Amino acid sequence: MLQKLEQICKEETNLSPSDIKILMKIASSISLFAELSQSYIFIDCLSKNHQHAIVVAEAFPKINHPIYKKSVVGKNVFEIFEPGVFYSFKKGKKSIIKHAINQEGRSVHQTVIPVRNETEEIIAVLIEERGLKYLNNIHIEESNLSIPTQVLDIILSYDNDSVPIVSDMLMEMFILTDHHHKLIYANPVGIKFLVEMNQTNQIYKEKITKLLPFLQEIYEGNDEDVYVFERTIGKKSLIIKKIKLRHTKNKMNTLLIIQDLTELKMKEKELSVKSIMIEEIHHRVKNNLQTIASLLRLQMHQGHLGDSYEHFEVALNRVFSISAVYELILSKDGSNSELVNIIELTRKVCSKLVINSIYKKIDLIIETNNNIIFTSQRKAVSISLIINELIQNILKHAFEKEKEGKINIEFVVENDTIHIHVTDNGVGIKILKPSLGLKIVRNLVESDLEGEFAFQSMTLGTHAVISFKKSPEVKVSFEENPIS
Ligand SMILES: Nc1ncnc2c1ncn2[C@@H]1O[C@H](COP(=O)(O)OP(=O)(O)O)[C@@H](O)[C@H]1O
Ligand SMILES: [Mg+2]
Repeated sequence: MLQKLEQICKEETNLSPSDIKILMKIASSISLFAELSQSYIFIDCLSKNHQHAIVVAEAFPKINHPIYKKSVVGKNVFEIFEPGVFYSFKKGKKSIIKHAINQEGRSVHQTVIPVRNETEEIIAVLIEERGLKYLNNIHIEESNLSIPTQVLDIILSYDNDSVPIVSDMLMEMFILTDHHHKLIYANPVGIKFLVEMNQTNQIYKEKITKLLPFLQEIYEGNDEDVYVFERTIGKKSLIIKKIKLRHTKNKMNTLLIIQDLTELKMKEKELSVKSIMIEEIHHRVKNNLQTIASLLRLQMHQGHLGDSYEHFEVALNRVFSISAVYELILSKDGSNSELVNIIELTRKVCSKLVINSIYKKIDLIIETNNNIIFTSQRKAVSISLIINELIQNILKHAFEKEKEGKINIEFVVENDTIHIHVTDNGVGIKILKPSLGLKIVRNLVESDLEGEFAFQSMTLGTHAVISFKKSPEVKVSFEENPIS
């Protein structure tokens, strides 16, 4: 027995050699406890991918009415049938379940406790099971039954002859067949499905393999106690669970739980079509903006523009600052599908402007203070335009005489407000005669960002602050381990 435990643990679990040793020690004494308590003892471990559990050791007592006939070591245990086992794995607590379904489809009283190693990690669970005939009126302690198990509870606590009542509210189909594989019960969705598939109401006591021919191979060729499989029937995608249920007279009923995933699969498809469409639209917007920019540039290169050249350049930069948002969205690293990283956006817009002003030597410093700020696309377009106007002003007005200068952009988050400081060490404002540029800035800050704009001259240069509040459209996080 211990050899088998070691082999299963090594092959099918992530347990370390020292964890396996602990389990071997426990396994060496479980047969004593099985005899002493007249119950069945098992040790279950989680599989490598944690999708199911595996029985690694067992001990049966010598009793007259066994609830297990064959060994279950090496068998898989699924959450929907043994929620108590998974409850103990997940919560690290004891669980007691009145009508658990054991590996042979029998109803048992099951107690589960977690087994820990020296570092308090849960490495296995220890299970004690007794047949229900030994017990009466057991209370359920911390049971965490999933719906199908509750339904199984109902079915198993009735006599073979009486038909259980399963709630109409359940989306899963429950279909119960007798030992001749004839239909004896189906819940309302189950009935609807069977009637739809057969175009007749004559379904009761009919063979299930006649009603649902695709089940033939599973009913005939398969001897597993629990069998789960997926089938596409016509346009329907189904997940089918087939469970053997043993009863007192040793006749074997079979329960089918069928889940219809058709709608879910369709929604999934629709969603992916939509997101592809949105991406396509972003591409088109970006391309159109680039076409506009090219046309403007072409016009500029035609010459004869005189004073208008500058105005064209200003307009061109505005178009660029909008298309930068779409470039970021499409590049995916500066955004996710809905939100745009505005610090990345600022970097993109500013460096382009600074690089293009080849006649001046400008130092551009962006201080994030480890903030990460994401906004909706709409707000990102406004922020891009605002930054573009302020930087254009600095390049145009601040460093007219000196050809060297410094631009500093700092992102500060204070409680629920974000401040973007834009400063330069230029000549400062001599006469403030706001024309279109600053009007655009004030307008966008106040109406689009619902924030405030302050602009002032300092002893050296100018200082602009844009302040706006966090909201569902403006999200801030903090970089914990910034790479400096
Ligand atoms: N960083 C700055 N340094 C010095 N003066 C500035 C700065 N930003 C703006 N100004 C002044 O404010 C005025 C208004 O700017 P703006 O509304 O953008 O109009 P425009 O840039 O078309 O002149 C500018 O003409 C300039 O005199
Ligand atoms: Mg301007």
